Order: sequence, then structure tokens, then C-alpha cells
Amino acid sequence: MNTDLIDFFNITLRFTHIVAAIMWIGNSLLFTWMELNLLKRDDDKNLIGYMDMLHGGGVFHLQKRVLKPDTIPTPLHWFYWQSYTTWISGFFLLITYFFTRADTLMLDPSKTDMGSTGAILISLAGIFGGWIAYDLYWRSPLQKFLKTGAVVWIFLVILYAIGLNSVFNGRAMFLQVGMTLGSFMTANVFFHIIPNQRKFMKALREGKEHNLNVGKAAKFRSLSNHYITFPVIFLMLSGHYPVLYGSDNRVIILSIIIGSLIIIKHMMNKRNTFKPWLAVFFLTAIGGTAAIVAAIKLPTSDKPEIVDPQVAAGEEAFSLLGCTACHQAADTSIAPGLAGLFGKERELADGTVVTVDEAYIRESILVAPAKVAKGFAPAMPLYQGVIPDTQVDQLVAYLKQF
Ligand code: HEC
Repeated sequence: MNTDLIDFFNITLRFTHIVAAIMWIGNSLLFTWMELNLLKRDDDKNLIGYMDMLHGGGVFHLQKRVLKPDTIPTPLHWFYWQSYTTWISGFFLLITYFFTRADTLMLDPSKTDMGSTGAILISLAGIFGGWIAYDLYWRSPLQKFLKTGAVVWIFLVILYAIGLNSVFNGRAMFLQVGMTLGSFMTANVFFHIIPNQRKFMKALREGKEHNLNVGKAAKFRSLSNHYITFPVIFLMLSGHYPVLYGSDNRVIILSIIIGSLIIIKHMMNKRNTFKPWLAVFFLTAIGGTAAIVAAIKLPTSDKPEIVDPQVAAGEEAFSLLGCTACHQAADTSIAPGLAGLFGKERELADGTVVTVDEAYIRESILVAPAKVAKGFAPAMPLYQGVIPDTQVDQLVAYLKQF
């Protein structure tokens, strides 16, 4: 298909995906907040809770009630399309954005020589197979041991990340874990939350009593969704953080992010009942950030030690000058991957092909727009007159052996 058309689809899909996700997660956070802040009153046994909220120049007087079959309100608003729209647009985006270039965008060529089909199959198996595993897991008696179950479940997610990391590049690994968890959330809505609500509404319409227990099963899945909301949002935005996904310790970083964000959400929920919630909130945020910074700096043993001082200085300059914000070993959506750059045939935006030599690398660093790599926007800053000559030499030496 025409690449411009694919780009246009991607723009539309991404916009739809983000707007739908904001509506869905916004609703979900507001409903959970209301649930946790409802006040009780003894004089009305059909009142589960109530609250007053100031907004838009008036006061919303909200009540959560046990319904009587003859008092089913109309219209009654249901909430599910936000979730379905998020998943459907995200799934199409996965196909039009990642699957059309699965080999370069998803795989790490230094770890595997698998092609696009393999990458696509792994991604789909992770999402759909992952859901089956997740669903069976939480249908099992483990549901009764909620805390242990949740901790083991987080370890399983980390194992999944380790597996993905053995073939996928960092960005694709973070996104795949995010997509998988996000898919669990929509599947929870589709297979558990909405069917349970249909069940009790149907019973009500048949004149039966409002069975609060049917709603409880749905509530467990809602709560599970609620706790993975923050990690999913973070992971879906992680394409903007090459410093995190580009690190060799990315699985450790991902684990810290998931763990900390779940604790942070829990503290926000406990603010009415757990006094030191704010202290734990900030300690987790600060401790989590410090742990991530430490993980980024942690040396890895399998990296060959750089002996040439010129190359070592180049590596340092590459990081200090912020080149890593756009460039990784593999292609990112922003910039071409630099692994194996020297000597490779580079196709340019104007269709010509050049062999990458020292002069090309030097020119690319100093005046990148002079020769723009095909498939990328001329987004690289001009470094002519910005970086001293000695540092340019160091960068060239480093990139020659990248
Ligand atoms: C804002 C993002 C950004 C930053 C920061 C950036 N680049 Fe780039 N770079 C690009 C883009 C986009 C391209 C591809 C378009 C082009 O060729 O101009 C590119 C192309 C290159 C190329 C040519 C690669 C090829 O395959 O043809 C080299 C070499 C390069 N950059 C090195 C660097 C170095 C060294 C730094 C740090 C001093 C740096 N870049 C900083 C975005 C960036």
C-alpha cells in the first residue's frame, strides 16, 4: 500500500486511540474515586452511598442505589464503547504501524535473525494467548488469595517481558507488554464486566430482586483494571523515552515502573483510611526514580569493553549530546538505527543510494538535512559550529564501530 496512505491511517488511528483512551480511563478513574468516597446513611436501606460534587456552576447530588424492578431509570447510561474503541483503534494501529515493518520496528537484529512473520506471530500470541492465561489464572482459586495472587501475577508479567526481550528491541518490548495488559483491560470489560451487568439488569427486568453479588464479580475485574491503568499508560507512552527502553537493563526498569505505579495508585485509593499514604506515595515515587536511574547506569557484563580512547570518548559524547534521545541501535519511529552503519548501503529520500563512509557520517552529524535517510523526516538538529571538531572526530570513531 502507498506509504502516505498508511501514514494518514496511522495519524487518524493514533488520535482516535488517544481520545478514546482518555475518555475510558477518565471515566474509570472517576468511577473508582466516587466508589471510594461515597458516604453512608442509615435511614435509607436502598441507598448504597451518596456524595455531592461541585462542577460547572452547580452541585451534582449523586446516589448509588439498590434498584427496584419497577424503578429502572431511563435513559440508563452504560459505559463500554470508550474501552472497545481504544482497543480496536490500538489493534489497527499495531497492524498499520508495526506489522507493516515488523522486522525493523519490532525485532532486535543483534538477538535474532527472525523475519517479520515471526515478530507478528509472537505479538499476536502474546496478546491473545496472554489473555487466555490471565483469564484462567484469575478464574482459579487464586482469586481467594488476592495479595499473593497479585504478586505472582506481576512476576509472570516480568517473565513475559524477559521472553519478549530476547527477540524484540526495547521499544517494541515495552509497547508489547503495554498492549498485552491494555488488551486484558478491554477483555475484562467485554467478557466479564458488561456480561455481569447485563445479567443483573435482565433479572431486574424480569422482576427479580437486585442481586448485588452479580455486580461483585464484575467489580473484581474492574479493580484489576484499575490497578494496571497507570502501568499501561506509562508503557503506551514509553516510545518517547529511549533512555528507558534503550537501556540494557530495560526489564529491570520495566519491573520497577510496574511495581511502583501499582503502589502509587494503591496509596491514592487509601488516602481516606491510611494516614501515611502521602509519605508512601512520595517515597515510592522518589525511590522508584532513583532505582531506575541506578539501573540505567548499572554496567552490563556482556558489553565488550571499549579500549580505544577515541571511541570511548565518542560514546560518552553520544550520550552527553543527547543523540540517544532519537538514535538507538535499531530504527525508532524518529530516527534510523545506527547498528552496522559503517559500510552499509543507505537509501536517501531522493531515491539515490550511497555507501556509508567516514565522510557520510561526518556530514550526517554536522549538516544532517544535506542527505536525508529514506523513510525519516529531516528532524535531526544542525550540529555544525555547535560541536567542536575534536568531538566530531570522536563521534565518527564511535559510530564507525557501532
Ligand atoms: C531530534 C532527533 C535527533 C537527534 C537528537 C539526533 N539525530 Fe541523528 N538523525 C535523526 C534523523 C531523523 C535522521 C534521519 C534523517 C536524516 O538523515 O537527516 C538522523 C540521521 C543521522 C545519521 C545518518 C544515519 C543513516 O542511517 O543515514 C547519523 C550518523 C546521525 N543521525 C548521528 C547523530 C548523532 C551523532 C547525534 C548526536 C550528536 C544525532 N544524530 C542526534 C534525528 C536525530
